[in-house]
Amino acid sequence: MGIHKAVIPAAGLGTRLLPATKAIPKEMVPLADKPAIQYIVEEAVESGVSHLIVITSRTKRAIEDHFDETPELERMLQRKGDTARLEELRRIERMAQITVTRQPEPKGLGHAILMARDLVGAEPFGVLLPDDLVRNDGGRPCLEQLARVQERHGGIVLGVMRVPRDQVSRYGVVAVEPVDPSGGLGPRIHHVRDVVEKPPAAEAPSDLIIIGRYVLTPSIFGALERTVPGAGGEIQLTDAIRALRDREPIYAYEFEGERFDIGDPVGFLTTSLAYALRRPDLAPGVTAYLRTLRLSAS
Ligand code: G1P
Repeated sequence: MGIHKAVIPAAGLGTRLLPATKAIPKEMVPLADKPAIQYIVEEAVESGVSHLIVITSRTKRAIEDHFDETPELERMLQRKGDTARLEELRRIERMAQITVTRQPEPKGLGHAILMARDLVGAEPFGVLLPDDLVRNDGGRPCLEQLARVQERHGGIVLGVMRVPRDQVSRYGVVAVEPVDPSGGLGPRIHHVRDVVEKPPAAEAPSDLIIIGRYVLTPSIFGALERTVPGAGGEIQLTDAIRALRDREPIYAYEFEGERFDIGDPVGFLTTSLAYALRRPDLAPGVTAYLRTLRLSAS
């Protein structure tokens, strides 16, 4: 079965990437030669998702244009006989059904997810936060890994990873039950006892943080409706998940793969470089340039 739908909250203003994001959505800033959101959509599609619900805001029209047909470009490429580019455009346009709906006011991640309620309906669904890219070269995409856990065990599944203690306060943090010694769930899956959004490091229940990948059940929508503003004065997805912890199982899954945080300029630059270095067509040129640099630690 797996999941068929996924929500991509893309309504944020992208202030940390200004001035790049003054007139274009941060999700459209390119990494190597693709807008960041295309990697996210590709991960969802490779995970079995066929309908994506993108939550946007007023200044984000370029996102829907990117996945729409482009007849004048296609006619031009056809005239030039550039079939490789033509095929690539068509692939992007046909990848999935994409529905765009708006979050009228920036009231937080939880509130953004609530905007997808009617479009999601009554089935488990994925959530991919576009500030987090995950690569798992040669293995299953991150969202598919979570979907498989959900299929087997039900409930809510959170993608998690360990970070140094001094970084936990930037994230949602999970408190987990000790690993079942009989190995029932397997080493990567934990029962979640509690979740807390952006706790001070000294109060954090563990070093396992939630990354931007979730499989949620429709009961999240009722919980989100009842959630009052939390950390940062925003309606937090983490708080709604917390409210469900006595009602349905919540699992933390230590995904296989590498996470890239593209929420700030250094993250964006280093991720762009890492992605370019793994592209056979781009790597030689980029490597040749890097070799000319006399890099020092300062
Ligand atoms: C959001 C979530 C947080 C999660 C993080 C992952 O925070 O609220 O729980 O750990 O994404 O990137 P944000 O980065 O939007 O502040």
